[in-house]
This record gives sequence, C-alpha cells and structure tokens, in this order.
Amino acid sequence: MLKKEIIEKYNVPSPRYTSYPTILDWNHLSMEPKVFQNEFIRTEKGKNHSTSVYIHIPFCESLCTFCGCHKHITKNHTVEQPYIDALIKEWELYEKLNGGPIEVSELYLGGGTPTFFQANELKRLVVRITKHRASNIHFSVEGHPNHTTEEQMQVLYDLGFRRISFGVQDYSPVVQKAINRIQTFEQVKSVTETARKIGYTSISHDLVFGLPMQHIDDMEDSIEKTIKLKPDTISLYSYAHVPWVKGTGQRGFSKEDLPTSDEKRALYEYAKRALISAGYLEIGMDHFGLPTEALTQAMQSGKMNRTFMGYTTSATQRTIGLGASAISEYDFGYAQNVKSIKEYHKRINNNQLPVFKGHIHTYLDKSLKKHILSLMCNFETKYCPNSYIEQNLNNFAPAFEEFEKDGILEWKNGHLKITKDGQPFVRNVCMTFDPYALQKAEKPRFSKSV
Ligand SMILES: C[S@@+](CC[C@H](N)C(=O)[O-])C[C@H]1O[C@@H](n2cnc3c(N)ncnc32)[C@H](O)[C@@H]1O
Ligand code: SF4
Repeated sequence: MLKKEIIEKYNVPSPRYTSYPTILDWNHLSMEPKVFQNEFIRTEKGKNHSTSVYIHIPFCESLCTFCGCHKHITKNHTVEQPYIDALIKEWELYEKLNGGPIEVSELYLGGGTPTFFQANELKRLVVRITKHRASNIHFSVEGHPNHTTEEQMQVLYDLGFRRISFGVQDYSPVVQKAINRIQTFEQVKSVTETARKIGYTSISHDLVFGLPMQHIDDMEDSIEKTIKLKPDTISLYSYAHVPWVKGTGQRGFSKEDLPTSDEKRALYEYAKRALISAGYLEIGMDHFGLPTEALTQAMQSGKMNRTFMGYTTSATQRTIGLGASAISEYDFGYAQNVKSIKEYHKRINNNQLPVFKGHIHTYLDKSLKKHILSLMCNFETKYCPNSYIEQNLNNFAPAFEEFEKDGILEWKNGHLKITKDGQPFVRNVCMTFDPYALQKAEKPRFSKSV
C-alpha cells in the first residue's frame, strides 16, 4: 500500500490519455479542414481500411451537474429528425470522399444520451450507416437508465447491438441530489434485466468515485447494489473536476463538497476490493470485468486498446466520428467536428465536412503514442536500443528513478513495468513520455490523477 505522502505527491493534474497527443496539445495548424480532406484522400480513399464509426448524440433531457461530456440539454424532441438527417448526410460526404461505400466493422452510439432519440429514428440512422457492414460487426450504445425503453433496446438488438452501457454514477440520494441526477435502484435494475432478457451479452454500468458529497458508506452501498445486478463490465471513473470547461455545472461545487485526495483514493480502493472479491478482474486504470467478458479477455491476452471511448476491444484501423464534437482517429492523426449543433447543421447544409480542428502526427508522436497506449493498457512498455527513449535517456532517467524509489515502477534493460501499487498513477508515468504535458504542467488543464 502506498503511503499518504506518495498519493499526495502524485495527485497532480494529468491527462486521461484517451488520445496522444491529448486534445489540448493538438497542433491545429497542422490539420486545417483542407489538409484533413487531402490526408483522407491520400491515405484512406478506396483503401478498405477496417472502420469503426463513433456517432455523437449530444442531447440530454436534464443537466447532471458533475458531467464533463459534450451535451445539449433540451426536452424538445423535434431536434431528432434533422439531426439524424445531418448525420446521414455527413456519412454520405465521407462515402463521396472515399470514392465509394465504406464497410463498417464497429459502431458506437455515444453522447450525451443516444436513447434520447425514438427507436425508429435510431433505426433509420443505423440502417443507413451500416448499409455495407462487415460480417462480424460490433455495436455498442450508451443509455440513460431513466430514458431507455424496452422498445429502443429491442430495436437496437434486432439491428445487431449486443453491448449497452448505463450511467449509474452513485445510488446515494444525497449524492444524486448534489449532481442533479435522481435515479432509483429499481430503475437501473429494470433496464439491466430488460437488456439481459432481450439478449444483450455485454451490459456495463458507469460508476464515479470522488463525486460531491460522496462518502465511503455511499460507495459501499453503490457497490453492493451493483454486484446484485452483476453487469458484465463496470467503468469506475475518477470524477474529473474541470470547472473551467464551458458547459459543465461543476462551478456550483465548492472544495468542501468534494472528498480529499486520500478519501477519494479510499473510495476507489474499497470498490476495487469489493469487486474483486465478487469475481471481477481489474482492467486497465478504471474498468472491471467478469472473466467471461470480451474486454477482460482482451486485457489478459494483451489485445486491449484505448480510444476516445476509453478501454475497448476495438482493433480497427480508423474511427470515423460523426456528429457535433465527434472525434475521428486515423493513422495520420486526429480530427474533431465543430462542437456547436447550430454550426454542425450549417456545415452539413453547405455540403462541407464539419471537421474544424485536429492534429497530424509527427514521427515522434507515433512512437510516443505506442508507449503511452502500452502503459495505459498493459501497465508496461519496452524501448529498443537506438530508440528515441534510449538516445534521450539522460532526460528520462531521473523521472524513471524517482518512480522506482516511490514504489511505482520497475525499470530494467529497456523494460518499464508499473507495480500493482503504482497502477493508480499510470497517468503520471505516461506524462514522463509526453513532452507537451511536461512543458505546460503548471497550468490547470487536466483533472487530477486520483
Ligand atoms: C455520456 S455519459 C453516459 C450516458 C448517459 N448520458 C447517462 O448519463 O447515463 C458517459 C459517462 O461518462 C461519465 N462521466 C461524465 N462526466 C464525468 C466526469 N466529470 N468525471 C468522470 N466521469 C464522468 C459518467 O459515468 C457517464 O455515465
Ligand atoms: S451524465 Fe449523461 S445524462 Fe447526464 S448530462 Fe452527462 S451525458 Fe447527459
């Protein structure tokens, strides 16, 4: 067990590394919309690269004040049809750029709340996007337990969806009031059991530790209830407190409302012990899975990946992001769509791809990205003689040695392995490989490690 001083020492702002470089460090000038189109044509057009599609549905019925996602709060459902029309049109722009249909291997509906939309609108969207689909396609959707109906789940299941995740966060009425998200255990039980009855084989619950007003007894109760429902995977996210980001309701939380860093760590450690003794395995930094689950098996065989959607079994060569704020990932770099829904519609109506910023990978980015991904997914990485790391060891060695001294890292013969105790600080170790984050470490840009 690491000492309190070590937890304090490493509890500093650090990226969650769902991308490298992290979005705040993209070199936007390298990825103007025109450059993006040219790169797509040069490296992707007609190549039949295996493709994941991420579709962002930014609408939610009410604001959960802890939430850091891109969302638009409305109860007006007339937004559905024009938004689906725009997504389909955006896909057609990609097909045109590609010089023909694109075969889809994976589809992820994320949000916001995808189940804000009626079943028939979701069906219209999915049918069109997957008109050309690989034989072994993987479909996932995020659902809000209060706004997911049996009809929606059945329609999506009939289209091929087998994975569904529900936001739970915490069951305590006090925490739920603080984050403006009231949902009962009975509601979560009902959607979970309905999903299972329909035939979903991978059901996931999102929990968050470090929320305002959250204490250890709340975590004990939430974990007990979660274990009763036995979801196949559990995402146990560290609450990211980023009140400076536009659109969150986090400004209303004072420092006193939030657990201290060692209280926060204790919440995670409790949940981890309880989940492991209930038969779950810890996956990466913040996930747990039953041994039968594909993600658990991918982790065990070293085949797990990390993308903007978090830990995944995805093994495709690119992700095309559709919808306001969606991010695409290619071998050549990242591209993000405009965030405002109004601006998104405007671009699509003008037959323009809505990409507005991104990043072209340098040679060094690609090499460092491999180390960061490997650390985040497998808690270890290796560098070769003559590699960039080896050649610049004078710069890296002091940090590696300090992590070793603090019991976080083992370092021998070009092999870096994070210790069991050190795993909560994997983001800190990744930062030593990240020249962008190191340069700007003094400003509050990321949430803290713990
Ligand atoms: C897009 S939301 C989930 C789908 C659906 N809208 C819902 O709320 O049930 C994805 C998940 O991100 C997590 N999340 C959102 N904001 C967060 C924050 N500030 N810190 C940590 N996790 C967060 C929550 O666990 C949430 O369920
Ligand atoms: S947690 Fe889910 S429902 Fe709540 S605001 Fe965020 S995306 Fe919307």
